[in-house]
Amino acid sequence: MRVDRLWLTDFRSYASAELQLAPGLTAVVGANGEGKTNLVEAIVFLATLGSFRGAPNDALVRLGAHQAVVRAEGERDGRALLIEAELAAGGRSRVLVNRQRLARTRDLLGALRVTVFAPDDLELVKGGPAERRRYLDDLLVAVDPRHDRTRSDLDRVLRQRNALLKQVGGRLDPDAAATLDVWDTRLATAGAALGRARRELVANLAPLLGSAYDAVASEAAEVHIVHASEWLDQGYAEVLAEGRAADVRRGLTLIGPHRDDVELSIGPMPARTHVSQGEQRSLAFALRMAGHTLVTAEVGSPPVLVLDDVFSELDSGRSDSLLEALPIGQTILTTAGRLPPGARPQLTVRVAGGDLTTDSPGVPPVGTA
Ligand SMILES: Nc1ncnc2c1ncn2[C@@H]1O[C@H](COP(=O)(O)OP(=O)(O)OP(=O)(O)O)[C@@H](O)[C@H]1O
Ligand SMILES: [Mg+2]
Repeated sequence: MRVDRLWLTDFRSYASAELQLAPGLTAVVGANGEGKTNLVEAIVFLATLGSFRGAPNDALVRLGAHQAVVRAEGERDGRALLIEAELAAGGRSRVLVNRQRLARTRDLLGALRVTVFAPDDLELVKGGPAERRRYLDDLLVAVDPRHDRTRSDLDRVLRQRNALLKQVGGRLDPDAAATLDVWDTRLATAGAALGRARRELVANLAPLLGSAYDAVASEAAEVHIVHASEWLDQGYAEVLAEGRAADVRRGLTLIGPHRDDVELSIGPMPARTHVSQGEQRSLAFALRMAGHTLVTAEVGSPPVLVLDDVFSELDSGRSDSLLEALPIGQTILTTAGRLPPGARPQLTVRVAGGDLTTDSPGVPPVGTA
């Protein structure tokens, strides 16, 4: 999987830009605020139709423009890949893959896979359970895009069930009870599918996480990852039936996959509350690395790797070990400072004043904005 060329129109700070990427490592360098992350965000947008920074889609359209267009040419499984995405300022998007309009934007998932490392990843360890659920579910989708369906089915049924619970105001009449039965059956099916998939994923991640941590941390440690679920072992249908009275009273579904967590610890210390900031950061890296390694093994080729401004947080020894430990594929790294000593970019793109210039023997500069 590879992106060879990228075109942006009215995406973030770029009115118009064209960028060539190396098959191996491309370094994007420039001062703060020049538009480095905007470039990699465009690549990630083609994979997910969203911003990895958690920004709403309309933030991706250049201020004052009515739509953004991102186009990429590359290769997947030995065949040419062309992805074209338009995003209206209102947030609606339209995508073509190899000039075919996609019936559902979900069909895009899997056309291009990207793993992103970003400074915000620290939240995977320090933040709330929702961050860690999203980490698991995004990995499930990267391995098999059909999981996106399970996830959205679950979200929908949960919303419907919660709306009903709220509406009945604490008292369940027979009609409402019958409707609740229907939601419960659907919720139990979707919930169980997602719960089992998450548990299996965590079991597969555990050994990878251990070796990833050892590769980025200064010393080896015993890292544990556990899928914490209050309902999976008992069975969701039974748990929903048992909890119905409480749910009706509270007007909310109290137990389920939407409350799962991923417990992380280093030795006996819970990572969220007991370990140092440096250890938390190494663990966050290790989570991304383990995920990337797992997807690479499951899919058969490495996703495009985006390392957005991650080396500023690591000393040069750890930066080099991180680079060495990652599966070899296309990598794009951005930095406002120096490159790790072990990084040998095939292409260096300099971003300044909205212009892109490429340094590489024999490759002409290709960008303006
Ligand atoms: N929708 C938008 N329209 C126009 N400009 C935007 C839009 N969104 C962001 N920008 C501009 O893009 C700039 C930020 O770009 P970006 O985040 O890519 O910087 P960076 O090079 O990654 O910086 P750093 O090194 O600080 O991470 C901001 O200065 C902002 O003015
Ligand atoms: Mg940035």
